[in-house]
Amino acid sequence: MALLDRHKTIEKNATLLLALSFAAVSIGGIVEIAPLFYLENTIEKVEGVRPYAPLELTGRDIYIREGCYVCHSQMIRPMRDEVERYGHYSLAAESMYDHPFQWGSKRTGPDLARVGGRYSDAWHVDHLLDPQALVPESVMPSYAHLADTRIGAENVAGLMRTHRAVGVPYTDAMIDAARRDFTAQADPDGDPDGLIERYPGAQVRNFDGNPALTEMDALIAYLQVLGTMVDFSTFEPDAAR
Ligand code: HEC
Repeated sequence: MALLDRHKTIEKNATLLLALSFAAVSIGGIVEIAPLFYLENTIEKVEGVRPYAPLELTGRDIYIREGCYVCHSQMIRPMRDEVERYGHYSLAAESMYDHPFQWGSKRTGPDLARVGGRYSDAWHVDHLLDPQALVPESVMPSYAHLADTRIGAENVAGLMRTHRAVGVPYTDAMIDAARRDFTAQADPDGDPDGLIERYPGAQVRNFDGNPALTEMDALIAYLQVLGTMVDFSTFEPDAAR
């Protein structure tokens, strides 16, 4: 048992054991991590996924500011109960432009990854004003102040530049048009052509039903786009092709 005797020497020498464990862990770590630096892309590209339009991006900021992620996840796991309740499991590509990602770690309320289109705008307004009016047993707090807080487009270009700095492919043209696109999305009487060309599929309407542009508009524009960018009637994962 010469081999075991030699192993005994390692076990009896704390410094040697530490040094050798460190070496073993380092090799394992490098083997797992190094290839990621040489891959072009670790996320499979999926048709339809686009950066958020300016109003949606602002709504996302409000979602983060209000701490919605504390009670809501945005990550549907590929298990039958989840897929039946929430829809197709989340794809990595669907959060590729999310900085920081909103997967969350707790579900006090339901997952919101595919809440877009599930309810009408009016439902969201009523629910955010007074959740218990619609779901009496809800523990969700009221966000009525959003309906009274007007927003303008003054900060949106800066917000987009920040997202570009961390890798979201906003072009100069998108940033130049940011203010116009911001108001165009909530203005059903405006001219949304440029907006829709830059952000295909963007939904244009007065989200909160109130003439003033408020944080409620931005948040609902964000909620209504969640999970709607990929068309799952035609989507096939790479592995199935
Ligand atoms: C204290 C935890 C809590 C916080 C914070 C919270 N929610 Fe909720 N939310 C819930 C619960 C519980 C439900 C389920 C009952 C209901 O519909 O009110 C819910 C339901 C919802 C639903 C309906 C989802 C569905 O599929 O039926 C939406 C949309 C929603 N919340 C959005 C938000 C947004 C946006 C915010 C932040 C502005 C937020 N929530 C903050 C607990 C929370």
